Amino acid sequence: MTALTLSTAGAATLRADALVVGVAKGPKGLVVAAGAEAVDKAFDGKLAAVLDALGASGGEGETTKLPAPAGLKVPVVLAVGLGTAPEQDESFDEEALRRAAGAAARALHGAKKAAFALPLDDASAVTAVAEGALLGAYAFTAYQGGEKKAAKGSGPKQPLAEVALLGAKPRDKEHKAAAERATVVATEVNIARDLVNTPPNDLTPEAFAAVASATAKENGVKVQVLDEKALVKGGYGGIMGVGKGSENLPRLVKLSYTHPKAEKTLAFVGKGITYDSGGISLKPAGHNETMKCDMAGAAAVFASVVAVAKLGLQVNVTGWLALAENMPSGSATKPGDVLRMYSGKTVEVLNTDAEGRLVLGDALTKASEENPDAIVDVATLTGAMVLALGDRTFGIMANDDAFRTSIHEIAEEVGESSWPMPLPEDLRKTMDSPTADIANMGVRMGGGLVAGLFLQEFVGEGITWAHLDIAGPAFHEGAPYGYTPKGGTGSAVRTLVRLAERTATGDLG
Ligand code: BES
Ligand code: MN
Ligand code: ZN
Repeated sequence: MTALTLSTAGAATLRADALVVGVAKGPKGLVVAAGAEAVDKAFDGKLAAVLDALGASGGEGETTKLPAPAGLKVPVVLAVGLGTAPEQDESFDEEALRRAAGAAARALHGAKKAAFALPLDDASAVTAVAEGALLGAYAFTAYQGGEKKAAKGSGPKQPLAEVALLGAKPRDKEHKAAAERATVVATEVNIARDLVNTPPNDLTPEAFAAVASATAKENGVKVQVLDEKALVKGGYGGIMGVGKGSENLPRLVKLSYTHPKAEKTLAFVGKGITYDSGGISLKPAGHNETMKCDMAGAAAVFASVVAVAKLGLQVNVTGWLALAENMPSGSATKPGDVLRMYSGKTVEVLNTDAEGRLVLGDALTKASEENPDAIVDVATLTGAMVLALGDRTFGIMANDDAFRTSIHEIAEEVGESSWPMPLPEDLRKTMDSPTADIANMGVRMGGGLVAGLFLQEFVGEGITWAHLDIAGPAFHEGAPYGYTPKGGTGSAVRTLVRLAERTATGDLG
């Protein structure tokens, strides 16, 4: 991944392929943001006028490349828009900095080293710019340029190899800690993205479990993998019911990070459908091309546990990855079948495409057995949530209003868009089954909430629980923006890590 350095060097003295400056929309037109004074000087104080003449406005995400004047040790200056300039004595919003840094890093794809001279008022601005740059510099190129790579040398363009943050002080404890935290978090978000982007013929449940095991061991995280034999023996009817139609059989992975002085334990549970064809209730063409993303919840859980371990947080975190491939075949579950879940509850499967709740039901019961202080599950669970909130916002449901509010606030704080959603009790009876204890489907209207109510049935008595439906933001199909690339986004990793940090410090609202 991109290397990050903090540098006290002046903007006019550092050698790099490009120098990034911030610009904003002021009351009287474009203004150059703090941090770029030396650059403006090299333009004889006319940087704003030059950019204005080129049609730049300072709008969010806008990037303008300029040839650098003599006096700078870079060939190119890149001006990136920060949006509306803050009032005098106020700082730029952290998310505006994060997005601008991301847009700049994307615009410099293919360059080696960039120096960022963005406004860094405090340590949280250092975190934001560092995260934005490292997240924006992401590219998934593992499957490209095969022939050229084989022919040696020129493969696909690579992301920035090095980012220097000017004005961030390597000897300042707070700045250093901010940069280190940003590096860990961004690295893990990018790992979650890689997992989501990896084609499903390579990322099978078994392969995902192998990656998780190897990485966990490298980071001092305990790992336990249940294979199909153990799952059958253990009575995991939900996970097996979904996974048994595939040649690539399911896995349940448990990752345990523990801290000797921890006072609290969190459990994170991730939906890990490595491919969702819909099963016998097959999805039509047009609805299945992106379904390799259906393990994004498990990817977020895995990446978060590793981040928590790397940060050495004073909290115990257990991650559960419910991994299966949902395929139609002679051995697949059929609509009408009844599954006996790990909890003992029976489920009539009315639609094999409502599979996420089946694998999560088992994992939630299992996670509940250890009586954690709270459980958070993360899942690309329903198309209904995408219809409700769009493709940039995840829904939060919970059995505890205060916990739901805390997660909403935490997500906001780290720059992830989310919204609280209800669990209306009256929808529960729409899943009544004439044959089993519950059906895996209810009414279509409010389908995201129905799915949440199904999951709630598998949460242990008295355990605080929240459910994040990331079906919208997990996979980005539109044009890249800010630090968000096309494809896997790493949705929910930053929220889970901050939740663990807040739990560790006892600062949970
Ligand atoms: N994985 C899908 C949900 C999804 C949709 C994720 C769009 C990402 C983008 C899930 O397994 C599914 O198929 N849900 C069904 C449930 C229905 C059959 C009750 C849905 O939402 O249509
Ligand atoms: Mn499905
Ligand atoms: Zn699914």
